[in-house]
Amino acid sequence: MKRIDELDLPNLPMEDAAFASNPWPYLAAARHRHPWLARCSFGHVVHQFDAMKDLLGQDAYLQTRIDRVISIMGAEGTQWGRFQSESILTRQGLAHQRIRSVLAPAFTPRQANRHRPLMRAVITELLDEWVPKREFDFEAFASNFPIGVMCSLIGASRAVIPQLRSSLEAFGLSFSLDKEHLPALENATNVLDEFVQKLVAERQAARRQDGEEDLLEILLQTQDRGELGARELYDLLIFLFVAGYDTSKNALTLMMSVLIDNPGIYAQCAEDLEYCRKVVEENFRYLTTSTIPRVAVQDLPYRDVLIPEGSTLFFPVSIAGRDPGAHQDADRFDPDREEIRRHLTFGMGGHICLGQFIARAQIQEGLHLIAQRMKNPRRVGPSRWRPFYGVWGMRGLPIAFDPAN
Ligand code: HEM
Repeated sequence: MKRIDELDLPNLPMEDAAFASNPWPYLAAARHRHPWLARCSFGHVVHQFDAMKDLLGQDAYLQTRIDRVISIMGAEGTQWGRFQSESILTRQGLAHQRIRSVLAPAFTPRQANRHRPLMRAVITELLDEWVPKREFDFEAFASNFPIGVMCSLIGASRAVIPQLRSSLEAFGLSFSLDKEHLPALENATNVLDEFVQKLVAERQAARRQDGEEDLLEILLQTQDRGELGARELYDLLIFLFVAGYDTSKNALTLMMSVLIDNPGIYAQCAEDLEYCRKVVEENFRYLTTSTIPRVAVQDLPYRDVLIPEGSTLFFPVSIAGRDPGAHQDADRFDPDREEIRRHLTFGMGGHICLGQFIARAQIQEGLHLIAQRMKNPRRVGPSRWRPFYGVWGMRGLPIAFDPAN
């Protein structure tokens, strides 16, 4: 068995703009050199679907060690660094389970379905405002949707959206591994912290009396029982805004871009919400957003390779669904394919996305109504790409369309 650092591996330049705008030829070439592993500037990359699935499930061996990310970013002693090092994603074992179990009851498929009318109300209001323009940047439009839903879920006024959006946008670059973004990340952390502290103080002064339990009420009740500290509550609220923002917005924008090239599928989405479910799942396989970092906390033998303690691995689940060994005709967008939910968009293992049912419901409802109100979408300008590390996606998608009521 060879150690990972003794292997002759291809290099994936994942920090390069050229890679972010078209990773496919790099990945095809890498697969020829090694079936599942490559190097990158900050460690190693697992690029095969099955290997990602196996290894991301190894929580005892591979953990989210944010100290590695904080050190790459030079962020020791910053507010952003503190937030990241104490977040739900960084916690392990019992400390993680305690926080996750506080949230879990509010994030079941049933709860997500309960919020569908609210999601429809948020997207309808947005469409009423934006559709008359006939032409706009779809990414800018889409950015309002997840924040709007989140504000409604926790019972915050949607008037705060313009103030939060630029901070959430900045925060989305948390795992880009580019130090240049640190001042913006620090500023964003302070803005979001101030926002959630004010939100909690206002709610504590006037608790809901109508018997309705929004997410904030559930979290405050947990705090009342002494199961959640004040700082933990603020951090969780920030995390929820951040976790659901860039991911959902980028997923929606990537999906619109794919559907512009598949007008028949797009048209059918206007007719049929059930079909939208399939389109959304297929898009999660075909083109999605995240690269998940992990550090080996003990030696891990896998297949014929030893991954020694201290190794940093990256799992670009964003491209996992295009592995030709895992999916037949992987480069074809086909919502009618079998095993439609066979993708890794939401990760795997103990930290698998808690918001996945909300994300699914939100994007399905959004797509259904968008396709009804924005007919024949077409590109009217170029798009750029966001950094590949962290949360990938398109930067700008200028479109025109025919409005419909
Ligand atoms: C398309 C949209 C989304 C995508 C692609 C996505 C992706 C992910 C991924 C890949 C992880 C695992 C990260 C890791 O293991 O290191 C994750 C974790 C998480 N996500 Fe999402 N997410 C989405 C939407 C949301 C939404 C809407 C929410 C909440 C409202 C949310 C809340 C969370 C939480 C709380 C975790 C941490 C779970 C834990 O550490 O136990 N996500 N997400």
